[in-house]
Amino acid sequence: MNERTPPVNANRRSQEWFGGTGRNGFIHRSWMRNQGFAPDVFDGRPVIGIATTWSELTPCNAHLRAVADAVKRGVWEAGGLPLEFPVMSLGEPLMRPTTSLFRNMLAMEAEELIRANPLDGVVMLTGCDKTTPGLAMGAASVDLPSLMITGGPMLNGKFRGKDIGSGTDVWKFTEEHRAGRMSEEDLVEAETCMARSAGHCMTMGTASTMAAITEALGLQLSGSSAIPAVDSRRMAMAQLAGRRIVDMVEEGLAMSKVITKESFENAIVVNAALGGSTNAIIHLLAMAGRMGVELTLDEFDAIGRKVPLLVNLMPSGQYLMEDFYYAGGVPAVMRELGDLLHKSALSVSGKTVWEEVENAPCYNRDVIRTYAEPLQPAGSSTAVLRGNIAPNGAVLKISAASPHLLVHRGPALVFDRNEDYIAVSDDLDLDVTADTVLVVRNSGPKGYPGFPEVGNMPIPKKLLDAGITDMVRISDGRMSGTGFGTCILHVAPESAAGGPLGVIRTGDTIVLDAHARQVYVDISDEELAKRMETFVPQVAPSTRGWEALYIEHVLGADLGADLDFLQGRSGSVPARHSH
Ligand code: FES
Repeated sequence: MNERTPPVNANRRSQEWFGGTGRNGFIHRSWMRNQGFAPDVFDGRPVIGIATTWSELTPCNAHLRAVADAVKRGVWEAGGLPLEFPVMSLGEPLMRPTTSLFRNMLAMEAEELIRANPLDGVVMLTGCDKTTPGLAMGAASVDLPSLMITGGPMLNGKFRGKDIGSGTDVWKFTEEHRAGRMSEEDLVEAETCMARSAGHCMTMGTASTMAAITEALGLQLSGSSAIPAVDSRRMAMAQLAGRRIVDMVEEGLAMSKVITKESFENAIVVNAALGGSTNAIIHLLAMAGRMGVELTLDEFDAIGRKVPLLVNLMPSGQYLMEDFYYAGGVPAVMRELGDLLHKSALSVSGKTVWEEVENAPCYNRDVIRTYAEPLQPAGSSTAVLRGNIAPNGAVLKISAASPHLLVHRGPALVFDRNEDYIAVSDDLDLDVTADTVLVVRNSGPKGYPGFPEVGNMPIPKKLLDAGITDMVRISDGRMSGTGFGTCILHVAPESAAGGPLGVIRTGDTIVLDAHARQVYVDISDEELAKRMETFVPQVAPSTRGWEALYIEHVLGADLGADLDFLQGRSGSVPARHSH
């Protein structure tokens, strides 16, 4: 089976466990032998952990056990010992109150498990939105040689002869249903036509964005992120990844040697060209925090402004991930971005990211546009707004917004909780017009708690019935990466942390000027200060377990919403050991 000589090394990290003599060596090896390994597998060859977020409760990741098997083939083939282990899985469709409450918990668990076990390198298997940043954050803190494989997107949805996209068309169909333009039967039929195969959402939502971004970062093999989950080439790529992680251990290619400040800047450029999810901002800030790389919210705007939108995928465009892969995927996009990238940044392959993509072909110019003829010009990516209601920033995805609303002035209609708005959103007597600015607060990390995807609040039925499909919405929450609309998100500081969003009143005039990167409430500084003096933030009343810990320690959206005590690298040396 193995034609290579295993790269044996007595100084390897795993040999601190498996290379021992006497009682400790006995304990470390003996129990492992019950899995039927050949006698010589603990001889100092690289031990590769395969951290899997497989779960049947996370449908987007339910095929990852097969991917793990393909990785194992590659690890064995290269002379390593693969050991698969589970980490917490986070499935968007089912988990309550929101998976983002648990991203840091996954990161913390992954960090502790990687450090606590006799591993020399790690392959991370992820897919659904938060599983990718969660595992990457954990691995970044430990800093072993680490390589990611995302599980790949589902095949395109197909409904009555048309392609339909996960998330994006759910929002459209359910709004059509609310407006009485789509029957219950049609809605149920669409439901059966959307998720046709294993894999994550096949729009350019958060999962596809994070997959592409980890490729741009150099954390996964070039060309891998867009391969559909059920395409045999994904398994082949997983096998290659298994081979490669063994070599990375041999080369001592720790995660921090691959991913640097330049890598993060490349990821921001690629995210802008993709029309990627606003959630990528939160996750990249959190990952950078773990790696000790200084990255600020403003850099997303400064870098993103120079990048045209090249990828014609929902929600900003028309196509889906299958089309994107067939068109050339991330390598074709990166080649087109050329000098906007730091070409010398590394990939887990050991080559530079530019060496990986400089000859990448594009097979469909309607899906992946050229730099000269983009889908939208530079400046259409996510803008970072500031003003008296968002002193630490807020974001607006311009490519998913309505152009006529980018400069807007209108009266606020304010709700303290998303649930309060939902309860009246179908009320035909709601005092709302197309000019109204819908404000929902207490949706941030501390306020909800967990920072849910409620920022693209549904349009009031009264407006939907009048044919209005977008309006300016402001919240301290997030929006699904598959969502769209003129939604100002991640307002920081959040209202539960004492942010001024908490003192806006219904009837106040809100001003948005996306071109000037401004959003503010049109009241005097004195009036704002007076309101702030008596403002009592609403902090979620949690006293128990993870939720209480999270509320106490979570950082603001502008800092990536990690826990304050998890910033920075912790290293791979356990503090102590009992045997
Ligand atoms: Fe899992 Fe969209 S619900 S990726």
